[in-house]
Amino acid sequence: MNLTSRISNFEFENPLMNASGVWCKEAEQLDELKRSQAGTFVTKSATPQQREGNPSPRYVEVPLGSINSMGLPNKGFDFYLDYSLRYQNENPEKINFLSIAGMCADDNLEMLKKIDSSDFKGITELNLSCPNVPGKPQVGYDFEATEKILSQVYEFFQKPMGVKLPPYFDFAHFDQMAAILNKFPLQYVNCINSVGNGLYIDTDSESVVIKPKDGFGGIGGAYVKPTALANVRAFYTRLDSQIAVIGCGGVENGRDVFEHLLCGAQMVQIGTQLAKEGPQIFDRVLSELQTIMKEKGYNSIDDFRGKLKSI
Ligand code: SIN
Repeated sequence: MNLTSRISNFEFENPLMNASGVWCKEAEQLDELKRSQAGTFVTKSATPQQREGNPSPRYVEVPLGSINSMGLPNKGFDFYLDYSLRYQNENPEKINFLSIAGMCADDNLEMLKKIDSSDFKGITELNLSCPNVPGKPQVGYDFEATEKILSQVYEFFQKPMGVKLPPYFDFAHFDQMAAILNKFPLQYVNCINSVGNGLYIDTDSESVVIKPKDGFGGIGGAYVKPTALANVRAFYTRLDSQIAVIGCGGVENGRDVFEHLLCGAQMVQIGTQLAKEGPQIFDRVLSELQTIMKEKGYNSIDDFRGKLKSI
């Protein structure tokens, strides 16, 4: 069965990968992803310098998913660039995604300049959607700021790049954001980051469950699948065909992956459920996806990708 997926000129054996932030901060975790059945992996969103992130508890599994306010804990940009360079040297036929999330536009420009002048051959992800840094609004909800940073980036940046978007909830916003993204030579957009600033409450203790931001955090898992699918579909149908869509949100099994692919995703990321099960999840989900494809008589993902039917 052919599970090949593509972003730009890059080809992956299958569409599965981790969501940035999950199982990808430490070298040991990235090593496990490398050895897993995932088609590729993305590194933790990096800031120029190492960050401790928000105080704990900052990630909690809840009945239908997770709530987190990690606050971008990471080992610093150089660590993830070095890791990616070593990976491509050891595996010349493979590439990974390198995610960055500066605290301000200048941070992002500084990291992108370093990537541009490095030997990195993979794909860069510019995260415009972290909801968890106190005092830092999500750039992806500010249309002007998004257009401005992309204009600044493409004054010099020559390498493959995509952006990670927050979820949108209104057709006007899908239209406006897609029109902005279509102005740039992006390789992909990633839909969606967590649904920002939800509040999960423990009724027994009458308390919030995470410490940062008085309990407000990004919601992931089954809660967000319909929102993720809507964003994948909305951008797949609005973006120029050379901009691929990566689907992320609510993926627990092969059926969820199938749905993201049907909406038009090229790659599908797993976050909350990867945190729960570990990298062996990719074996299970891949075999579930293949079972569904076999039942439906599909030999390749291209047979059904994007072909969601209307009624
Ligand atoms: C975090 O580190 O707070 C999560 C990253 C993100 O949501 O972009």
